[in-house]
Amino acid sequence: MSAALLRVDKVSKRFGGFTALQDISVDIRPGERFGLIGPNGSGKTTLINCISGALTSDGGSIVFDGHDVTRLPAYKRTRRGIARSFQVPRPFRTMTVLENLLVAIDFGVESHGLSGDQATAEVMAILEKIGLADKARVSSGQLSQVELRKMELARAMAARPKLLISDEAMAGLAGAEIDEVLDVLLKLNGEGITVIMIEHIMQAVMRFSERVMCLDAGRIVCEGTPAQVMDDKRVQEAYLGA
Ligand SMILES: Nc1ncnc2c1ncn2[C@@H]1O[C@H](COP(=O)(O)OP(=O)(O)O)[C@@H](O)[C@H]1O
Ligand SMILES: [Mg+2]
Repeated sequence: MSAALLRVDKVSKRFGGFTALQDISVDIRPGERFGLIGPNGSGKTTLINCISGALTSDGGSIVFDGHDVTRLPAYKRTRRGIARSFQVPRPFRTMTVLENLLVAIDFGVESHGLSGDQATAEVMAILEKIGLADKARVSSGQLSQVELRKMELARAMAARPKLLISDEAMAGLAGAEIDEVLDVLLKLNGEGITVIMIEHIMQAVMRFSERVMCLDAGRIVCEGTPAQVMDDKRVQEAYLGA
């Protein structure tokens, strides 16, 4: 058995007197496809924020790829290989898709030493992979919803992550668009990237994940195979109560 890529140990987060996360522990294996579910407000994004460094946890520790990153600022965690997409994409709307991703490369890869041409080539390779190459020169303000979601994943990929955390990349999408994003995530995972998927679209999480964890009110309700989690009475109650 290989060591965990990510070890979250008893992580807690409070906002004033409100406990958003309480003693969350989970290990993610290298190459794993891990689904994170839970009703609205259960703490999914807060957990991702604590892992990526957008927030600092109040208790517990986070070890990534053998390094304790609990206190590291977000940009240093990005450079260690943790990338996340945002629930609400915030592209530079007046810049082209290519320009948006060149910014992400500059930010994400420490002293990458890439020339302008090399950086462009790397961005184009990512766009090719994600199925967005034909939009490279288009202003991001003109993208459709599904294209924006793909660009958000491409932006995360520009940091050459070991771990990609996708926060509701399918929100607002329907039918074939959901499958398109799912296919992108499966493809990236197929190339060795560990993926944590947060998703409300249950069918998509269940198809994607090898293992699923359900949060409710900042605590772990249950964790197991997709079938085990779907069948768990406590999971059903958490969603009914929401
Ligand atoms: N920055 C913040 N300040 C205060 N409360 C917050 C903040 N971020 C999240 N919360 C609260 O923490 C809880 C969990 O939120 P969140 O992690 O966004 O849930 P989820 O992603 O599962 O919908 C919610 O009650 C939310 O209102
Ligand atoms: Mg959220």
